Amino acid sequence: MRTKKIARALVAAAVTVAATVLVVIGGPQPATALENGLARTPPMGFNNWNSTACRAEFNESMVLGIMDIFVNQGLREAGYTYVNLDDCWAVPAPNSRDANGNLIPDPTRFPHGIKYLADYAHARGLKLGIYTSAGTKTCNTLGFSGGLGHEQQDAATFASWGVDYLKYDNCNNQGVDPVQRYTTMRDALLATGRPIVYSICEWGRSDPKVWTWGADVGNLWRTTGDISDNWTSMIGKAQANRVLPQYAGPGHWNDPDMLEVGNGGMTATEYRSHFSLWAIMAAPLLIGSDLRKATAETFGILKNADVIAVDQDPLGRQGTVVSNDGAGHVVYARTLANGDRAVALSNETTTTATIATSAAAIGIGGSSSYTLKDLWSKATSTSSGSISASVGAHATTLYRVSRAGTTTRFEAENASYTSGSTVDANWSGYSGTGFVNTPNSAGSYVEFTVTAAQAGQARLTFDYGNGSTADRPSTLTVNGGGSTSLAFPATGAWSLWKTQVATVSLAAGTNTIRLTATGSGGVANLDYLDVTVTPTTPVQNYEAEDATIVQGVVESNHTGYFGTGFVNGDNLAGPYVEWAVTPSAAGPGTITIRYANGTAGTRTADVRVNGALVQNLSFPSTGNWDTWATATFTASLVGGANTVRVTATGTDGNPNLDRLSI
Ligand code: GLA
Repeated sequence: MRTKKIARALVAAAVTVAATVLVVIGGPQPATALENGLARTPPMGFNNWNSTACRAEFNESMVLGIMDIFVNQGLREAGYTYVNLDDCWAVPAPNSRDANGNLIPDPTRFPHGIKYLADYAHARGLKLGIYTSAGTKTCNTLGFSGGLGHEQQDAATFASWGVDYLKYDNCNNQGVDPVQRYTTMRDALLATGRPIVYSICEWGRSDPKVWTWGADVGNLWRTTGDISDNWTSMIGKAQANRVLPQYAGPGHWNDPDMLEVGNGGMTATEYRSHFSLWAIMAAPLLIGSDLRKATAETFGILKNADVIAVDQDPLGRQGTVVSNDGAGHVVYARTLANGDRAVALSNETTTTATIATSAAAIGIGGSSSYTLKDLWSKATSTSSGSISASVGAHATTLYRVSRAGTTTRFEAENASYTSGSTVDANWSGYSGTGFVNTPNSAGSYVEFTVTAAQAGQARLTFDYGNGSTADRPSTLTVNGGGSTSLAFPATGAWSLWKTQVATVSLAAGTNTIRLTATGSGGVANLDYLDVTVTPTTPVQNYEAEDATIVQGVVESNHTGYFGTGFVNGDNLAGPYVEWAVTPSAAGPGTITIRYANGTAGTRTADVRVNGALVQNLSFPSTGNWDTWATATFTASLVGGANTVRVTATGTDGNPNLDRLSI
């Protein structure tokens, strides 16, 4: 699959040094890809446009007021950083520029200029964003000068003011090729030496579509036209944006436009859907309401830390649509860095509906138990795999789903693999530092070394990418044996990751888990292996021959017993064996008695725990005295010492009793 790569090979590799590069180079770069080290998670902040448009209330006092609220109301701590000015911050043409060609801030709106705002932001741990258009004028009809043809000068002006973010719009573009227009500004921003998040606002209009080239040019790009403060507009943006997950990743995000939460045109339910969908799609969270007038309910939505954590998850994978019934019931899932999944059950209709998916459908099947946390109600529940909710009209239920047990991550890049494999990082969304790309041939392998604390079953979750159209099947072997064939079907793109799961038995100590390609494509790009074990409480065994025996003897004349023998009680009602047991944990549990009954009839006994009758237990025939079976009952044990007494109730007495297990 190394033959499939395209130009972005250098991008991720340069991430860690990018900030340094900006400082050191300080001049024009012959860059073919944007790598400014910024926006490793989707930008969070504020933009005035959705609440003020060009009205006079967009001014210094508003911007400073928003910054104060960011600090005072905990929004900064919640992750909101950028306070961005939209259109209309400047003096309209023909006086937009001074004698030197520099843009002039509107002295009425911003009497202290823009640097004053940036300084105010920086003093508070915030950042300042600004706006212009990749055209001769910006979008507003008042006619503010745009950046086309002024890229270096305007970028330098913004940098000199301490601007940290540029939204670069598409109006009045004179038909100049968008890649050229946006690339020129990218290079102008890089040339300033100042780290500036670069937001492309091209609306997804031209061909080739901005998402196919945006990652090389900007940190985010609008995928749609402008959002409005109503359900139809908002859900339309979500629908357009959710089909583009393969283009998003750390440093380069799809942008379905700014938030309308709190602007009054939607219900709280609809705003929660809006926020949930933006989060699961890893969209920028730019608050679009005037927080100086916001209600507690609006703050509650915008500050929901669990939902923000989904949006800001460092793995940086945009959620994908798992199912869509075509009638407005849509399930999205997003793989999170720790292996959990975020799941959105979204009801686009006006009627309450049950929307369901499963752990298997979202790629973490095979476990016996899952925890579901509702990220709005905060309720947690457990499930054996079904994920479902009754979802109201225009509502979205957002869950974080975790597997029970302990999951340990093994990165493929730390495994061993066929010589000739490479550890690549050119497709974003990988965990760790990259993924393993094996030679395209049968026999290629990746082998993980997994240490298990105890022998037992483990669930394996392989995270892989397969941007080819064909399956890349592999054989799974554990410690060289037990080969199982696993499919690794196409994921839709090399930057889209899916999982394949298997349940295997591990030995205590070191195990090798190997995937060996059986097809000519080699192993799919392999990102990681999650190994999930559910620690079982060790079984405690108590031999009957060690217990208190009344009216019975220890014998060993039949085979198959544990310990040194078994107890043969007298053939009448009344004989008993009483075990003294000390459980590792108090509480209800299953108690197992191993026995043999070589007669044709069923023998019976009263079971008493700490003197209290639990039940009369049956011991059906085992056919002969060398064949052992178990009878179980449920009882609650106290912490510390307990007695379990088994007293024959029939005239045949007890069966032969071998041992008791808790
Ligand atoms: C365009 C953009 C909007 C906003 C306005 C300002 O419509 O898409 O987001 O910036 O311009 O004029």
